[in-house]
Amino acid sequence: MEIVIIAAIDEKGAVGLSDNKTNHDLPWPRNSSDMEHFSRQTRGNVVVMGHNTHKNLKKLNERTVFILSRTNTHKKRPEPEKALWFSDSKDLLKHYKEKFSDKILFIIGGPTVWEHFLGLEVVAKLIITSIPGEHEANVFFERFLPENLAQQESGWKLESTLVLAGTQPKVQVRTWTKRLK
Ligand SMILES: NC(=O)c1ccc[n+]([C@@H]2O[C@H](COP(=O)([O-])OP(=O)(O)OC[C@H]3O[C@@H](n4cnc5c(N)ncnc54)[C@H](OP(=O)(O)O)[C@@H]3O)[C@@H](O)[C@H]2O)c1
Repeated sequence: MEIVIIAAIDEKGAVGLSDNKTNHDLPWPRNSSDMEHFSRQTRGNVVVMGHNTHKNLKKLNERTVFILSRTNTHKKRPEPEKALWFSDSKDLLKHYKEKFSDKILFIIGGPTVWEHFLGLEVVAKLIITSIPGEHEANVFFERFLPENLAQQESGWKLESTLVLAGTQPKVQVRTWTKRLK
């Protein structure tokens, strides 16, 4: 059993560009290196996302998909992938522990969901991609900026930094860990 947050963030802490209705996108054009890294990390495991993120991220093959939502709107729509919907993170974690504890649970966003799981003190690892540059955005999560995670009081320790192959400017991925209470 392992619970990990995976995220991508630009130099100003931007993570999303959303119209607060149906369109909830990333602020940057498709970054194939980061997408490949995301796929490599999460493939074969379980991913958790919020309802808004699910509206844009329709298809994730070779992964078990858990979606968090307190509304029932999904019941009216056909499902592109075999996803499991939960209205409560306690039920989601119980299901994960009972049925999927041999897999990693990746919390893939958005910020509402990251914030929620960080508050539960169950996440011991963050895998954060730094997307070079600044982008038009209206969803931010500055807490995941490297300079903020590096503050001692954050409790996170930098484990490793890698540069995604072939990227120019360089796309760095940092892994941070924390000892849970
Ligand atoms: N850069 C990245 O790595 C990354 C990753 C993922 C997403 N994003 C971006 O983030 C933005 C969306 O983020 P967001 O924070 O607005 O939305 P979100 O976290 O994707 O979804 C929020 C929704 O999820 C449900 N939810 C959240 N916490 C819940 C809980 N504890 N229990 C039950 N349901 C819960 C609620 O759905 P209901 O309203 O249905 O109740 C809530 O309205 C998009 O722009 C997306 O592209 C960025």
